[in-house]
Amino acid sequence: MLETSRLILRPFEERDYADVYEYTNRQTVHCFADMHFRSPEDARQEMLRRRENADYYFAICLKQTGRVIGEVFAHPEATAPEDAAADTFSPCWMLHPNCQGKGYAYEAVRAYFDYLFGEKGARRIYAYTEDDNLPSQRLCEKLGMRKEGLFLEYVTFVNRPDGTPLYENTIQYAILKREW
Ligand SMILES: CC(C)(COP(=O)(O)OP(=O)(O)OC[C@H]1O[C@@H](n2cnc3c(N)ncnc32)[C@H](O)[C@@H]1OP(=O)(O)O)[C@@H](O)C(=O)NCCC(=O)NCCS
Repeated sequence: MLETSRLILRPFEERDYADVYEYTNRQTVHCFADMHFRSPEDARQEMLRRRENADYYFAICLKQTGRVIGEVFAHPEATAPEDAAADTFSPCWMLHPNCQGKGYAYEAVRAYFDYLFGEKGARRIYAYTEDDNLPSQRLCEKLGMRKEGLFLEYVTFVNRPDGTPLYENTIQYAILKREW
């Protein structure tokens, strides 16, 4: 469990499903289009799966109310060569729309980066964000991440109205342990 002045970050529990169902199904960014739940029961099943990733998949909870207002997660990845240490992480973050613009994401992700670099052997953390996602870019910059590149028409998550894939322009940010 991680604690900041206004937040608790902890592994997901089965009872979190209703909060998670609500904020996940309200996301409008294309990269989370596949994460929407068909029903609260699907969200409940997902909570059970997330408990298997309790070291890395954290619910962001408001201390004041105890409600889950968002999440942050990343998995250790090995970079080349393939048998190198799994010391690279690419986090995803998401907040309930009503809880954005209050500094919670920065507060939560700063604690999460402290945890990855300090306790989980992270050497490098990188993040992908689409070029129209200004709040996510601003968060990367506040965290001290460097802009490493812009990949034009890099990935597709949704189709255009005519059924053809919509390719996104993706920015990569990163920070090393020695820069943190
Ligand atoms: C990306 C995302 C997590 C960023 O959240 P956020 O709330 O905008 O980020 P922050 O926590 O840094 O807060 C931003 C603003 O809160 C305000 N703020 C900062 N600290 C504050 C405090 N202590 N009290 C009140 N307000 C505060 C500021 O206006 C700040 O903006 P600024 O730093 O540019 O001045 C959020 O927009 C989101 O969930 N988006 C949808 C999912 C998504 O896009 N995920 C990423 C996919 S790549």
